[in-house]
Amino acid sequence: MRELINTLINTGTLVILGLATAALLIVSFFWVRYQVGRLLDQRRWRRLQRSERTSIGEVSSLTITPVFEWLAGDGKYIADAGASYLIEAGDTKILFDLGDNRPRRTPSPLFHNLKAMGVDPARLINELSAIVVSHRHREHTGGIFGFFRRQPAFDLPLDGVPTYTSWGRNHGRKAAQEIAPGVLLSANLPGRLFIGGRIGERMLMINVAGKGLVCIVGDAHPEPLRMILYASQITGVKPYAYVGGVHALLDDEIPLRYRVILSKQPPWKKTNPEEIGLLAVGMREFGIEKLYVSEHDSDFVSLGILKTVFSDEMTSLRVGEAIKFA
Ligand SMILES: [Fe+2]
Repeated sequence: MRELINTLINTGTLVILGLATAALLIVSFFWVRYQVGRLLDQRRWRRLQRSERTSIGEVSSLTITPVFEWLAGDGKYIADAGASYLIEAGDTKILFDLGDNRPRRTPSPLFHNLKAMGVDPARLINELSAIVVSHRHREHTGGIFGFFRRQPAFDLPLDGVPTYTSWGRNHGRKAAQEIAPGVLLSANLPGRLFIGGRIGERMLMINVAGKGLVCIVGDAHPEPLRMILYASQITGVKPYAYVGGVHALLDDEIPLRYRVILSKQPPWKKTNPEEIGLLAVGMREFGIEKLYVSEHDSDFVSLGILKTVFSDEMTSLRVGEAIKFA
């Protein structure tokens, strides 16, 4: 009997030791990858800071209509986590991001919302100057099977429309690209999640005459302040408005599973409210007068902190509610 108990204790000890070693190895792997990745990111940022200034031109009018968002302006639209914006900059029409399609629906939420706002998707595709997909996360690519199979959850083939993504052939690793006069697409800016690893992201910069630069952003994985600074450095134009996600997440405000998946830093380091306050004040200092925020990747308290700084100049993006700059 005693022998049996001893064997069980020894086996139990071995199992616990084995599990502890495995856990330690896994955490060490992510930590080393994170530290090495940050060093590489710093190098990439230094290279981007030395980028030559690009003359951007200007547009006389800009309208941005959310087609897919966390909030909707009317019950006839489908709202979910993700983003897609129809951008009309002068004569240039761009679809920025493709939302999500979970569960896989036909018609897709994007298609449904376009039709609900009186836009014929087939006609729109013909009129598009470009499709931009900010980064390779499912709520921006049209769903997990979306852009990976060249057939986004859009119900119609998009072949023939110039497409810009942060991966694949046209990934813009080194330089910004002009889409039209006044409309510039950033280089692939380095962002990082602790578990998810590197995530490059691209933003649109549109120079509206008499106003300044409007930065249109997916999730801001490369950090909003760095992105705004890059935008003003590369164009030489004063930032005016920020449209999109800010990824402002306080660890205590989100469920543990999201904290693990979405955290920008190791799980033992927490984001505190002061950091969100500095983000808001920094955006103001960099010249952002109007903040149009996508609520899909920020928590309620963080949004409240941003609101205390931006007050009436902060608006939440809603499907069907167009923003006009002229
Ligand atoms: Fe993302």
